[in-house]
Amino acid sequence: MMITAQILPLLLISLPKFSTSQQNTCPLGCLCDEEKQQVICDGPTVVNLPDRIPSGFDVLIYRNTSIRAIAKNSFRKMDKLAEVHFENNNFLSTIEKMAFKGMKRLKMLKFSNCRELTEIQKNSFSGIGNQAGLRILFEFTPIRRVEPNAFRNAQNIRELAISGEELALSRYSLANINQLDFLTISGVVLIEPEIFTNSTRFHSIHIKNSNFDVPPNCFSSLSHTSLLLIEQSRINSIAPDGFSGLSTIQIIELHANQIGTISARAFANVENLGELKILRNTITELDTSEAIFSQALKTRVEENTLDCGCGLKWMNSVQEISDINFCGTTGSFRSIRSFIKSKCLIPPKTQHYISNTGFPSFSNCLLLIFVILFNLKI
Ligand SMILES: *[C@@H]1O[C@H](CO)[C@@H](O)[C@H](O)[C@H]1NC(C)=O
Ligand SMILES: *[C@@H]1O[C@H](CO)[C@@H](O)[C@H](O)[C@H]1NC(C)=O
Repeated sequence: MMITAQILPLLLISLPKFSTSQQNTCPLGCLCDEEKQQVICDGPTVVNLPDRIPSGFDVLIYRNTSIRAIAKNSFRKMDKLAEVHFENNNFLSTIEKMAFKGMKRLKMLKFSNCRELTEIQKNSFSGIGNQAGLRILFEFTPIRRVEPNAFRNAQNIRELAISGEELALSRYSLANINQLDFLTISGVVLIEPEIFTNSTRFHSIHIKNSNFDVPPNCFSSLSHTSLLLIEQSRINSIAPDGFSGLSTIQIIELHANQIGTISARAFANVENLGELKILRNTITELDTSEAIFSQALKTRVEENTLDCGCGLKWMNSVQEISDINFCGTTGSFRSIRSFIKSKCLIPPKTQHYISNTGFPSFSNCLLLIFVILFNLKI
C-alpha cells in the first residue's frame, strides 16, 4: 500500500513527459533525416507503418520493407505529410478502403516496384482531404484490376498514372472523381463500359501501350475534356457508339495504333467535339465513310495505312484524305487514290464536287457523299 501511494504521483508526473518524447522519437526501423525532412523506413524487419512520426517531417519513404497492407486510416496521426513513397515492397498486396483518409497536405503518393500490389480496391483512395493538387503514381507495379469506385470522391488530383499489366478497368473504376488534370494509363487489356460515370473536370486522358476493344459508351459522361488520346495500342474494335456520351471535348485522337475495325458511327454521338484526329494508325476495316463520321468542327484522317479493298472507294472521292492515307502491304506508301483507281470504280461525279469543298467542313461533305451514294444505289 505504502509503495503504491509513493509511486502514483511519480507516474502521473512522468507519463506526459514519456509520451512527448515518444512523439519526437524516430520510429523503430526508420531513419529521420532532418535536413531533407524525410523519414525513411527501410529493410525487411519493418513490418508495419508507424503510428506517428516526429513533427517537422514532410516525406515518408517505405523501402524494401515486409509491409503487407496499408490499413484503413493509417495516416490519421500523420496527416501533415506531403509525400508518401512505397518502393520495392515485395509483400505489399492490399490497400484497404480509406487508407489515406484525412491527409490534408498530400501532394505525392507513389508506388514503385511493389510486385504484389495487383488490385486497387473499392474506396482505397477515398477520403483524402488534399488541399493541393495530388499526384498518385504506380510504376513497375503490376496493377491488374481497378475495382468500381476505387477513387470515389477523390478531388483535386493533379495526375493519376497507372502502368498496369493485363489491367482490367471495371465499370465505374474511375467514377465519381472531382477534378483530375492528367490521367495516364498503360497495360490495359479490358475496358468495361462507363468507367468515368459521375466524374467531372478531367483535363487530359491518355491511354497507351494497351490492347483492348472500345465497347459502346466506354467514355460516356465525360465532358469538358481537352484531350482524349489513345496511342501505341492494339484496338481490336471500336464499337458503334464507342465514343458516345462524351460532350464538349476539344480533341479525340487515335495515334499510331493497330486498329481492327472502326464501326460505323463510332464517333457519331459526341456532342460539341472540336477535332477528331486519326493519325498514323494501321487500320484493317474502315468500310464506310460513316466510320469516321462525327460532328467535329474539324476532322483529320492522315497517314494511316489501310487494308485497301473496293470497300474504301468512297475515300477515293475525298481528296483531303485519299491522298494522305496509304494502302497496306501490297501498296505500301501509295496513296489510296492512286491504288484504288486501278481496281475499283470511282463513284462518278462526286469527285469534282468534293474537291471544291473546304477542309473544315469535311464531316459535312462526308455526309453529302453518303447522301449521294445512297441515292445512286436507289
Ligand atoms: C532493395 O530492393 C531492391 C530490389 O529488390 C534491391 O535491388 C536493393 O538492393 C535493395 N536495397 C537495399 C538497401 O537493400
Ligand atoms: C452518380 O451520381 C448519382 C447522383 O448523385 C448517384 O445516384 C449514382 O449512384 C451515381 N452513380 C455511380 C455509378 O456512382
